Amino acid sequence: MEQAGKGTCRRSHDTRILTKSGSAAGPTNVELVGRLRQLAALAIYGAPAAQIGRWAGKTREERHRMVNRLVPNVMTAVLTIAAAAIVVRQCRKPWSLPGRLFIWLMNRTHAGVTRWGLRHVTVGPAATILDVGCGGGRTIRALAGLGQMVHGIDYSATSVAAATRANADLIAAGRVDIRKAGVSQLPFADACVDLVTAVETHYYWPDPVHDFQEVYRVLKPGGTLLVIAETYRDQTFAGLLIVPMLLLRARYLTLDEHRAIFSAAGFTDIEIDHDQRKGWICGIARRPAA
Ligand SMILES: C[S@@+](CC[C@H](N)C(=O)[O-])C[C@H]1O[C@@H](n2cnc3c(N)ncnc32)[C@H](O)[C@@H]1O
Repeated sequence: MEQAGKGTCRRSHDTRILTKSGSAAGPTNVELVGRLRQLAALAIYGAPAAQIGRWAGKTREERHRMVNRLVPNVMTAVLTIAAAAIVVRQCRKPWSLPGRLFIWLMNRTHAGVTRWGLRHVTVGPAATILDVGCGGGRTIRALAGLGQMVHGIDYSATSVAAATRANADLIAAGRVDIRKAGVSQLPFADACVDLVTAVETHYYWPDPVHDFQEVYRVLKPGGTLLVIAETYRDQTFAGLLIVPMLLLRARYLTLDEHRAIFSAAGFTDIEIDHDQRKGWICGIARRPAA
């Protein structure tokens, strides 16, 4: 099997490779969650407490009017929370009919960053490739144009079904295989893959160092891990995305934190390319040759 290697890539003026000093200091996720909780507590307990305070001494008609004013607000809040919960759930693990819609959207919206990220590696025509968190399977189709055999895994049955439909011809030709599995326990033997790709998924992984080590296990010595995402903690206007990332329960990692995870999992030759304005990040690292 041929091994994946780092290719050349054109970088825009605001794109650079990480330096050790590239990290942004800021509140940790735990501190941010604490602040959000305080705000939520204020909203949840403060508003009704104020209402109850005003309740005393009101006539029956005035109380009736207060309730009439409150009900639409409560309904709006409940519906907003329910909609947010659906979006959060669907991004992390697409499910059922709404999941199919999200997968369709992701296939389209991730195309640009995926094309950019894939330009960072080259593989030989005989390469075996694994796409982790394959979603709707669009990346698998692109990878099939690069190597000999592409495996895709995703822990969402809805994603696996969509990716299988999208690659039916390549599966029939024996060039693609898609399975339901989590990244923490990959259903592959040790050292059997030349390139592992992970597009817009690694920030959901339950235990990053362990999960990167699991990827390391299935990579052949000299094989490459390519992690691509559309946001990172040091990007321009990252503050706007802190709350959405918290709601998604996604890790919002700095460039240095990405580097540290690769390194802790045993990878070498780590390069983090990024576009600060777009928020695009591409981490490339290698399992050392034996
Ligand atoms: C935002 S989608 C990205 C899908 C696809 N890579 C793309 O770029 O369109 C994240 C995908 O990662 C999958 N995923 C999240 N955590 C996972 C895990 N621990 N193991 C396997 N798949 C996971 C989700 O089910 C979902 O399909």
